[in-house]
Amino acid sequence: MQPTAIDALLQETRVFPPSDEFVKQANISDPAVYDEAARDYEAFWAKHAEQCLHWFEKWHTVLEWNPPYAKWFIGGKLNACYNCVDRHAQTWRRTKAALIWEGEPGDERVLTYGDLHREVQKFANVLKSLGVQKGDRVCIYMPLIPEAAIAMLACARIGAPHSVVFGGFSADALADRIRDAQAKVLITADGGWRRGSIVPLKRNADDALRQTDSVQKVIVYQRIGGDYTVNMQDGRDLWWHELMHNAPLTCPAEPMDSEDLLYLLYTSGSTGKPKGIMHTTGGYMTGVTLTAKWVFDLKDEDVFWCTADVGWVTGHSYLVYGPLSNGATCIMYEGAPDYPDRDRFWAIVEKYRATILYTAPTAIRAFMKWGEQYPRKHDLSSLRLLGSVGEPINPEAWMWYHEHIGGGRCPIVDTWWQTETGAIMITPLPGIVATKPGSATKPFPGVFAAILNDKGEPVGANQGGYLVITRPWPSMTRGLWGDPERFIQTYWSKYDGLYFTGDGARQDDDGYFWLLGRVDDVINVSGHRLSTMEVESALVDHHAVAEAAVIGVHHDIKGQGVAAFVIVKEGYPADESLKDALKQHVAQKIGAIARPDQIFFTADLPKTRSGKIMRRLLRDIAEGRALGDTTTLADPAVVQALKEKYEGHEE
Ligand code: WT7
Repeated sequence: MQPTAIDALLQETRVFPPSDEFVKQANISDPAVYDEAARDYEAFWAKHAEQCLHWFEKWHTVLEWNPPYAKWFIGGKLNACYNCVDRHAQTWRRTKAALIWEGEPGDERVLTYGDLHREVQKFANVLKSLGVQKGDRVCIYMPLIPEAAIAMLACARIGAPHSVVFGGFSADALADRIRDAQAKVLITADGGWRRGSIVPLKRNADDALRQTDSVQKVIVYQRIGGDYTVNMQDGRDLWWHELMHNAPLTCPAEPMDSEDLLYLLYTSGSTGKPKGIMHTTGGYMTGVTLTAKWVFDLKDEDVFWCTADVGWVTGHSYLVYGPLSNGATCIMYEGAPDYPDRDRFWAIVEKYRATILYTAPTAIRAFMKWGEQYPRKHDLSSLRLLGSVGEPINPEAWMWYHEHIGGGRCPIVDTWWQTETGAIMITPLPGIVATKPGSATKPFPGVFAAILNDKGEPVGANQGGYLVITRPWPSMTRGLWGDPERFIQTYWSKYDGLYFTGDGARQDDDGYFWLLGRVDDVINVSGHRLSTMEVESALVDHHAVAEAAVIGVHHDIKGQGVAAFVIVKEGYPADESLKDALKQHVAQKIGAIARPDQIFFTADLPKTRSGKIMRRLLRDIAEGRALGDTTTLADPAVVQALKEKYEGHEE
């Protein structure tokens, strides 16, 4: 983050205490909960694991901690699908809406807990009939439709870990993830809707499957249908509706060990290929169930809308597992916020009387730019709580959200967490903690964070440093699929026994945490993680590119945008049409979110004497700052020339 932005945050002094009205009805309003959890965090988590989940068998040991390996609720047996579906379907909630779904073209469906119960059992039987067994990985590459959640829950029901791949990812990205997980079955759809166009999911899947060999069966849900036809390979590809037609109605939920793998979810790191974050059953379900209940103050009457796709961890934890485990009603919306018009979100809030909205700062900044006339067209009075996730929220966006969406009356929970943490880690509890625009406030009870300098010493108030988590927590990742070395290297080697988050942060005089962005080579584009190396690899994969260096640069809407410095091979014209071709190439290799915003041709890149690209200097250039220390450069003239060239350039 730029120094000017940090200064602005330092000057932020507005405080918003919870209203009496909110406190009176809050699920949790006694601040003593923080002390209770701090006194004995194992006892705290054990108490809530027992209260908020159904266990087939209770654990014998709460925690075994051999850094960096944690085991929680050892010996316990439970099933995530049973907790999200069966236990509600056995009560009055059988007829309560679990999912209220709206398709982008305007189609609607409501599934009750009873409906979900029937569908997941049938689909679990379908998976079994195709030979899926406990422990087999199932890849899910779907649009945001109820069947995506049904597929996830059915996998959980039979103990087959799922690996959901975001529908916006390319065939190559899908192939990498299928190969790494050695998925046996792929669940996809003919296509999905995005801004009125069809996303060709099955076609991408076909491309991906040509590059991999582990997948034996492909289940295809017909989302588009009509004249839109897809290739169905004999003996491999099967229609969802045909398989479901005769599937038996009941399938018991497999009792899973607490530490059995629930899912893999791939995310970008600072180097190399995406890593498969592993989450297990007992700890993960404890984390997401309790945080969903306390952070979002979830009640039976709520209509909860988390706008994330199930392709990201936010969708896993707060569209599927967390809210459903609490028996909540969730809205799921397939499409874009500006289709057919820029008021689509507000039309949905009004139509279904949403009470809680959880979205990303990038969306809020886009709404701000579009103007308040869009939310003003709709009755948003049903809203009572707002949430933010994915990247630091700037105070202006926070205030706009507060005033124009929350009508000045809704608490805002700015929730900091990661794919690796599984559940929300730093957040206000809306009935207890006074909020400050731009601060994620305090660690959730039972979570312990600190800010350290390079030597591992705590920094003082208002000083920036590295955010670490100092004690284990139930929903923490149990590691990276197939790569234990990288797990240790990435998270546990900077500080002995402490989890290194990769984020910078500071604490103010009240102990509030202010997140300052990533400190590694991860960029955060619209709340989605990308590694600079991934984009560089996609660029050098193009025949005209000799070398590329990629950095994240400030972007008004997306938070960060992608800027690429490219050295073109001899004989290729470094012109506008090559820029377009390279942008297209990256989008095709990774997905549209990775498309570079700026491409800058150069003859050289600033490197240290050992040949490492100095990205810090590229960031200085791209963001128009004075160059930092250049003494370690092999050839300081390179960066000076680059700076001059860049300053004369408009994009
Ligand atoms: C990175 C994790 C967690 C779900 C979405 C992203 C950034 C996330 C916040 C926040 C400041 C945030 C961090 C983190 N981040 N939430 N409230 N304030 N930064 O999950 O893709 O695993 O990315 O997102 O930099 O490390 P993810």
